[in-house]
Amino acid sequence: MQHLPSADGIWHNLRLLGDATVNALAVQGSQIAWMGDIASLPASLQALPRTDAHNALAMPGLVDCHTHLVYGGQRANEFAMRLAGASYEEVAKAGGGIVSSVLATRAASEDDLYAQSATRLQQLLAEGVCAIEIKSGYGLALEHERKQLRVARRLGDDFGVTVRTTFLGAHALPPEYAGRSHDYINLVCNEMLPALAAEGLVDAVDVFCERIGFSLAETEQVFQAAQALGLPVKLHAEQLSDMGGSALAARYGALSNDHIEHLSAAGIEAMRASGTVAVLLPGAYYTLRDTHVPPIAALRAAGVPMAVSTDHNPGTSPCLSLLLMANMASTLFRLTVPEALAGITTHAARALGLQDTHGVLAVGRPANIVLWDVQDPAELVYWLAHQTPRTVIRQGRVAVDTLGLLRP
Ligand code: NIG
Ligand code: FE
Repeated sequence: MQHLPSADGIWHNLRLLGDATVNALAVQGSQIAWMGDIASLPASLQALPRTDAHNALAMPGLVDCHTHLVYGGQRANEFAMRLAGASYEEVAKAGGGIVSSVLATRAASEDDLYAQSATRLQQLLAEGVCAIEIKSGYGLALEHERKQLRVARRLGDDFGVTVRTTFLGAHALPPEYAGRSHDYINLVCNEMLPALAAEGLVDAVDVFCERIGFSLAETEQVFQAAQALGLPVKLHAEQLSDMGGSALAARYGALSNDHIEHLSAAGIEAMRASGTVAVLLPGAYYTLRDTHVPPIAALRAAGVPMAVSTDHNPGTSPCLSLLLMANMASTLFRLTVPEALAGITTHAARALGLQDTHGVLAVGRPANIVLWDVQDPAELVYWLAHQTPRTVIRQGRVAVDTLGLLRP
């Protein structure tokens, strides 16, 4: 956002994870122009304004690589139903679940949807998120999927945050297509996706491949349509059962397979071979009181990169703290602290195809930097709460400066 102050200048007296030789960096033209020891600051940068980071820990901007952030309404009533004993599948079959958010999303105007979603986005940004994926999938009709994706693009432009849009038309069967799944998938592939892609609204394509979602064959049909348009794919895979979706997605070079509680050894091998990222979503696991932990040890052994995301959505993960998800990925799934931190930075960037620009602090990259007032980096995973950074530099601008101490 243009009114945010430029971060151009020298940021010194900071700490960098894993590199004790760096205690300062320079931001110039919204990029990281230099990193190193302030004692060897190049002469050409000497005149830049300086900001004392007060020994803060500098981390790359966080990346939330799987969200359903744009939707109408909320579903607290289903939370109550599940507390009374109903399962997610039972709630969905009773006409609740995704379809109830579809009705609320269809009823909302674009501006209303924008306002509701902006409030949520601001919470994620306040914790240092600098890139976010936003899926459609609560419209399930061309005009309403378009409305969701347009809101996602507007949020990116207005808030100065990298937004990757994902078309998830194959999220659920809309009520008007009940019993006609084949016709709906044809609509998704032949009309909705080509139209939205032509409007520049689609960065990737996703499917909910599940018993209560779409079959393996339907998933492949959507992947073929995406491939024909040159769009990368990703998948809601193996969340409630082993459908074999992960291996299918890997054959299409998927950026990521997400959820994967029931991922098989064959699925892991296929993901390793294709370089597909495993996206762990502990918020949905927790909310659904799942007990089937994703095969972390096998993913680790295979060298499959593991990302961690909020999966923010009104049904199964009404969560707006990516650090809380890192905590849960460690506590519930046994990720190490370095794995959890890589999961919300480097590997999350890879899950969005942003590995060359996001997720790592390096010279030549856009300045997306978070300064944390923590003594031990493990604190970012340890505290069981939303955490407020000292400073967030997003797209080269000072977007959060909570203490107000850095710039008198
Ligand atoms: O990622 N699994 C499907 N999609 C979402 C849930 C959406 C909803 O319940 O509204 C998920 O968990
Ligand atoms: Fe999801």
